[in-house]
Amino acid sequence: MIRPALVIIGSKLGKTEREDEAIRLASVLEMIHIASLIHDDIIDGAKTRRGIPTLNSLWGSKQAVLAGDYLLAKAMTLVKGEAGDLKAAAMTSAFIRLCESELIQDADVGNYLISSSTYIRRIGGKTASLFALSAYAGAAVTSAEKYQQYLLHRIGYCLGIAFQIKDDILDYTGNAEKLGKDIGQDVHMGIPTYPLIAALEIEAKNNLDKRPLFEMIKNKKPLSKKDSKKVVALTVSLGGVEKSERLAQTYIERALSDINKLNNEEVQTMLLSLFKKLSARII
Ligand code: FPP
Ligand code: MG
Repeated sequence: MIRPALVIIGSKLGKTEREDEAIRLASVLEMIHIASLIHDDIIDGAKTRRGIPTLNSLWGSKQAVLAGDYLLAKAMTLVKGEAGDLKAAAMTSAFIRLCESELIQDADVGNYLISSSTYIRRIGGKTASLFALSAYAGAAVTSAEKYQQYLLHRIGYCLGIAFQIKDDILDYTGNAEKLGKDIGQDVHMGIPTYPLIAALEIEAKNNLDKRPLFEMIKNKKPLSKKDSKKVVALTVSLGGVEKSERLAQTYIERALSDINKLNNEEVQTMLLSLFKKLSARII
């Protein structure tokens, strides 16, 4: 429950009498997140998530779509027009970005040749937008200082980008049993993430006659499981994972530098402890 945690931590910067509003928003953010995962599992045909059977595998896609929609509708009943400095429009625009980036990613499935800025824009929409909104919403709904609201938005955004890069690295290096899904699943589904983009950049810079990784992914179509595993091995051996770690680290450092500017020891400590809790994944 990272998103609700960010809302509650952010709310400590504002008026304590508005804490109930922050708790309501924290619930909204978690419900939207769960609804998006239910839909994501249907899109991906995922059988398990975090080792537990998905709704679509238990009840079928129809029931799962409707359950996701139901959760969304329930969440919307908790969103009021305006509360504190937070306008409903700020929330809906993050939800729109979430859906847009999934639509774009799906429309481009099988195209492995995307730039790093396209990748950052996509994960900015699908993950960081909700992190940024969560961190900002707690501060906004409790009418914290405007500069603090702005800093929290940036902290949430950078944390979200680092989190997604780390999550994408796990598709190349993770433990299949622990993750509850196979290595190379993103590649097999036709989805390029940063380790692959980075490895292709390194391979191009090496200026050798042969570019085996490029040869494998140049045709715009999802790869077989066997070829995906080869792509994973080549990506790792070219140093795509290390380059991804470095990129995630730059976002973590940006977030840490903004945390330093917050001027509130309680909130700074809480954010740093949240960062630490996530450290297995992000630092
Ligand atoms: C998981 O990422 C998926 C997301 C962060 C966003 C999914 C969004 C939608 C399906 C749009 C619908 C939105 C709503 C609000 C209903 P991933 O596939 O990279 O990670 P995973 O390995 O956990 O599946
Ligand atoms: Mg998925």
